[in-house]
Amino acid sequence: MKRNAVNRQEILDLHDAYVMHTYFPADLVLVRGAMSRVWDANGVAYLDFSSGISVCNLGHCHPRVTEAIQRQAATLVHVSNLFLHPNQPRLAAQLAAMTMGGRVFFCNSGAEANEGLIKFARRWGHERGRYEIIAMQDSFHGRTLATLAATGRDKYRKGFQPDLAGFTHVPFNSLEAAAAAVNERTAAILLEPIQGEGGVIPADPAYLAGIRRLCDERGILLLFDEVQCGMGRTGSLFAYQHYGVEPDGFSMAKALGNGFPIGAIQVRQAHKDALPAGTHASTFGGNPLACAAALAVLETFGREDVLGNCRRMAARLWQRLHALKAAHPAITEIRGVGLMIGIVVNRPVKELKAAAQARRLLILTAGENVLRLLPPLTIDEAGIDEAADILADVFAHA
Ligand SMILES: Cc1ncc(COP(=O)(O)O)c(C=O)c1O
Repeated sequence: MKRNAVNRQEILDLHDAYVMHTYFPADLVLVRGAMSRVWDANGVAYLDFSSGISVCNLGHCHPRVTEAIQRQAATLVHVSNLFLHPNQPRLAAQLAAMTMGGRVFFCNSGAEANEGLIKFARRWGHERGRYEIIAMQDSFHGRTLATLAATGRDKYRKGFQPDLAGFTHVPFNSLEAAAAAVNERTAAILLEPIQGEGGVIPADPAYLAGIRRLCDERGILLLFDEVQCGMGRTGSLFAYQHYGVEPDGFSMAKALGNGFPIGAIQVRQAHKDALPAGTHASTFGGNPLACAAALAVLETFGREDVLGNCRRMAARLWQRLHALKAAHPAITEIRGVGLMIGIVVNRPVKELKAAAQARRLLILTAGENVLRLLPPLTIDEAGIDEAADILADVFAHA
């Protein structure tokens, strides 16, 4: 009981008075989580199909991750990158073994990971006279100044101009547009294999393969932002593996620590010297505690068939959502891959999201007309059915 003794109004008042109002107002105060459920200050349980925006992919407070964090917190929390500790090289090796056998740099967030990718491309291009990065319209890469410049939506950049130079934006899923944009200054093409914030829009397989060919022909780098679509969301550990199109480097963050902040980039072995000693760093990057969390996450993927469960539960959910679409003409499309799903609706979705929350289901939006579902990959049949029933009720009363 004591653990839940939180005065909701007090928290709202403190937030209102002392926290910068950079986020849109929220009224739900969450105090506890266990796998697919979270509880509010009054002890009300919610089924969480938002997963902290694809962060708690294994579910809230997954026992293996919690145990690893507790153990490491009592052993060694932090040493600087002036020293080595066992967890960072082990984590890098694990990530390499599960992906493209490359080299890893650790940081703390998605934006910081993408900054690393951008710096990698700039440094790689420096001797070649190449510095421009072609990014996609409607993309989202983060809130730092370089990642804002990479982000393909004006609304995020508004008020922060001048933009960092060296970025151009082309329509996503248009190989012709990308090909036309490449010039002698181009260093890289950067894209999310599945655009998340932009509306849950998957790359066409032929497009992604074409982009790979284009980069090879023109001698430029292909960089993927896997911050949201990575870490098992698609039923493969990273979305590029789902497509079978390997980049030269990719970023990850969000679910890498299942809620413990950690980000990373991985580049191909061929580029191991692209950021030599002294050219890039991060104080907290890859510290013992963060790496312990991520190691436990990767171990859990192996031990609990998380990817298999994701694919099975995705099949069940997609079936229910297609039935929902058939019953409600307001739904114009179900799109996405695996458990990264957008329900496209022919009107604003804000109220539908609120209606789901009122029925104790937490979901997200992605733009004005898309409901976004990002359930934990460890969800079971009962959880899928419960969410689908709630959504059916929401649309029945919409
Ligand atoms: C594709 C993508 N890239 C980068 C980011 C930024 O990550 P962070 O908020 O950890 O900086 C996000 C966050 O939503 C994202 O979805």
